[in-house]
Amino acid sequence: MFFKISYFNPVKLVKFLSLLIENNFNFIKNEFLNRKFFNIKYLIDQLYNFNEQTYAKYHSNVVAEHQIGRIVNMRNLTEKYKNEITGDFLELGVFQGYSLIFFDRFLEKDKKIIGIDTFEGLPHDSVDVSLGQKSVEVWVKGEFNNTSVDNVKKSLTKFKCRDVSLLQGVFSEKKIKEELTKLSDHISIVHIDCDLRDSAYDALELIKSYLNQKKTMFILFDDWGVHQNEIPDGFYKWINENQSKFNFNLEKIYTTNYTRYYKLSF
Ligand SMILES: C[S@@+](CC[C@H](N)C(=O)[O-])C[C@H]1O[C@@H](n2cnc3c(N)ncnc32)[C@H](O)[C@@H]1O
Repeated sequence: MFFKISYFNPVKLVKFLSLLIENNFNFIKNEFLNRKFFNIKYLIDQLYNFNEQTYAKYHSNVVAEHQIGRIVNMRNLTEKYKNEITGDFLELGVFQGYSLIFFDRFLEKDKKIIGIDTFEGLPHDSVDVSLGQKSVEVWVKGEFNNTSVDNVKKSLTKFKCRDVSLLQGVFSEKKIKEELTKLSDHISIVHIDCDLRDSAYDALELIKSYLNQKKTMFILFDDWGVHQNEIPDGFYKWINENQSKFNFNLEKIYTTNYTRYYKLSF
């Protein structure tokens, strides 16, 4: 015997076993949901089925909350503001192209879709906002390198998307700015999904000249607040420097746990 019979407490044992079963069950359930809500085919099949009820049902799973929440908000945005979406769509941070494919489904076919990424992963590690140097290893240089322009193009073809322009490079590159200017003279929606503070700031600098047209622009952030204040900090810095210069109104229109969608109007 490993324990004296007098120490044996059946009530405690039953409690222990039910806790063990419950924890394992929750773990397996979460693993199952993670896989399901990272499956691009499943997500695309559900683009018009997800709604507030499915969001409420699955919101305790981080991946499901994110995917359902952003899909519902992307769809609502493109329906509600259809008349103000007069220009093209730009994504900064493409990775394997999930959100690019979602927007292909929701946007009118006459709008161009442009995506920019290194297609080699993040250009640097996370940065501590207050110290301006690496502190917590949340995002690591090279993360999200499991992609390429060719692979994204294959996915876009597989899901029968329109002809999408993919630019390879970092947002701050002169060549990227020149290529983007050639591709579009009017951008209405900018989806910024780049995780890092400096990347978010560079993304906003890249699209700044389009504000001279004084037409409504929707700026949508993914990964808002995932690592401390990286993305919010980059955004607020840019807003402080540019809002009075361009004289726009800023309205927060949709949110989820880790996304913030803004409307800039004049
Ligand atoms: C989270 S992933 C994008 C996910 C994608 N939008 C989706 O919905 O699946 C972030 C991407 O941002 C890119 N990225 C981050 N900073 C960048 C920069 N300064 N220039 C170019 N790409 C950058 C990374 O290479 C990475 O592929």
